Amino acid sequence: MTLMPSLRILLAENVHAIARERLEGEGFKVHCLAHAPTEAELLKLLPDFDAVGIRSKTEITRKVIEANPHVFAIGAFCIGTNQIDLKAARAWGMPVFNAPHSNTRSVAELVIAEMIALSRQLGDRSMAAHRGEWLKSADGSREVRGKTVGIVGYGHIGSQLSVLAESMGLRVIFHDIVKKLPLGNARAVRGLDHLLEEADFVTLHVPETPETRNMIGKKQLARMKKGAHLINASRGTVVVIEDLRAALESGHLGGCAIDVFPKEPASNKEKFHTPLQGLRNVLLTPHIGGSTEEAQYAIGLEVAESFRRFLRIGTTAGAVNFPNVDLPPGHDASRILNVHRNEPGVLGEINGLISKAGANIQAQFLSTDDKIGYMVMDLETRAAKKLATEIQKLPRSIRTHVL
Ligand code: NAI
Repeated sequence: MTLMPSLRILLAENVHAIARERLEGEGFKVHCLAHAPTEAELLKLLPDFDAVGIRSKTEITRKVIEANPHVFAIGAFCIGTNQIDLKAARAWGMPVFNAPHSNTRSVAELVIAEMIALSRQLGDRSMAAHRGEWLKSADGSREVRGKTVGIVGYGHIGSQLSVLAESMGLRVIFHDIVKKLPLGNARAVRGLDHLLEEADFVTLHVPETPETRNMIGKKQLARMKKGAHLINASRGTVVVIEDLRAALESGHLGGCAIDVFPKEPASNKEKFHTPLQGLRNVLLTPHIGGSTEEAQYAIGLEVAESFRRFLRIGTTAGAVNFPNVDLPPGHDASRILNVHRNEPGVLGEINGLISKAGANIQAQFLSTDDKIGYMVMDLETRAAKKLATEIQKLPRSIRTHVL
């Protein structure tokens, strides 16, 4: 019922050392694992931990969650969270935190490098030099200055890229389904087709949604300018790879740089196949757009900070499966956190108990989604623990803690 003074946190999969440093600095006990624990290992380990941090390879299943309802929070020290059963975590009152934008700059920088590399055919020339061939020629080699980059998806990465590209003298146009403020001299175009027709580089920065699946296929590639380049560091499902191969083989496209694929190996030990292998001026990278040491450091910091803010003050801002409450630290009051099923009358029941206990409410914050409500209360009372026990006994309470 009450948070323990020294919470124990398990960090798996070699999470960046800064996370351990920050969490230990905060007084938490941290245990690190280098590998991704299996379900069986988690079932054995988690009874001894109050929070768990993983990266993309550890699966946190419903079975693991249901066997460990004491766990307060889950940290995904990465971008994606589909390795975690988010619904089960929510049903048991466990917020899941991730770090969706810590690698934004890393992706934007990779795309800048790729635009230059494609314009100068760096991949092919370097491979030829390794083979002992000397391909000194200016034919088909161009500067990126003065060219037009078309950014599809002007979100975190797209807009960062916009600023970097403009500083190198590129003209920036973009297309987004949401109205976005153009940065610098960037210009929104009237639709994807206009962007495809105008850009020397088309670069994709959209999320994976039903609308973006196969968004760039035969028709769209045909609309691109002859000799233009395509860059995809978003999601593998956005481009129809067979159609891209045809556009490259026919010479319609000048090249492409692809970092994400419809089917990617699950580990570095697996073989990688794509129909794009062996084609001219095609840069293939193993989903490394966001993989930099700076990004890993930033992810470690961001998720450790989310843990700290939740475990110390109850803030769930940024949680992906949970009502978001952003709170100031409490002052001279007992802070009670309650997660309950979001049904009519719960608030009244909780406040009835508070009033019966004669506790003065200093502040009360509530946020709900369709399934649960998350309430944080600062109360002037010496009997917070007893009151929390009473609140937890309410039939629709999921969990209740005192900070
Ligand atoms: P974001 O959510 O900040 O931006 C996405 C933008 O795309 C939004 O502005 C949204 O309105 C727009 N959008 C959505 N559907 C669209 C559509 N049908 N047409 C046009 N625009 C549309 O996302 P962020 O952080 O910029 O990431 C973009 C992509 O990059 C994501 O798919 C993400 O998974 C991927 N990514 C890849 C990495 C890598 O290692 N290669 C690393 C990090 C992110």
